[in-house]
Amino acid sequence: MQRTLVLLKPDAVQRRLMGEIISRFEKKGLNIIAMKMLQVTPTLAKEHYAEHVEKPFYPGLEAFIISAPIVAMAIEGLEAIRVVREMLGATNGLNAAAGTIRGDFSSSRQMNLVHASDGEEAAARELALYFNDDEICAYNPVLTSFMR
Ligand code: PPS
Repeated sequence: MQRTLVLLKPDAVQRRLMGEIISRFEKKGLNIIAMKMLQVTPTLAKEHYAEHVEKPFYPGLEAFIISAPIVAMAIEGLEAIRVVREMLGATNGLNAAAGTIRGDFSSSRQMNLVHASDGEEAAARELALYFNDDEICAYNPVLTSFMR
């Protein structure tokens, strides 16, 4: 099992696409083991996007990510990091395949609705930025298998 960090970015919240996107992860069989709505601060934005802070697009990216609340989720499942990234589609919504979240709902590289960790190291680092260990919940495996 893997854990990954997923953010529903400001555009997903403002466009009222939270339910649609969360529903896709649930229908796929992934477990949402932590979730919170929050306002990203400039400090958190710089920590989260540390590898991009020096890039020319960073000021716009930070302005966007702090512009309105986001929803952070910890998602768990078999090969969850790869599976979630594939469900998101290409970074630029214009290039994302139909059937992916960005392919179906985004036409932008910046307003691309969702962020997901791109590897195990990033997932561990990013999960720790948004959640304390005691905020991560466990599914009851008996109930989960009973309800399938
Ligand atoms: S890079 O430069 O290839 O490493 O960047 P990439 O992996 O494609 O994107 C990383 C995140 O930066 C956002 N991004 C941008 N925002 C605004 N303007 C431009 N030009 C731009 N390019 C990349 C992109 O949405 C990615 O955000 P996350 O949250 O990681 O999906």
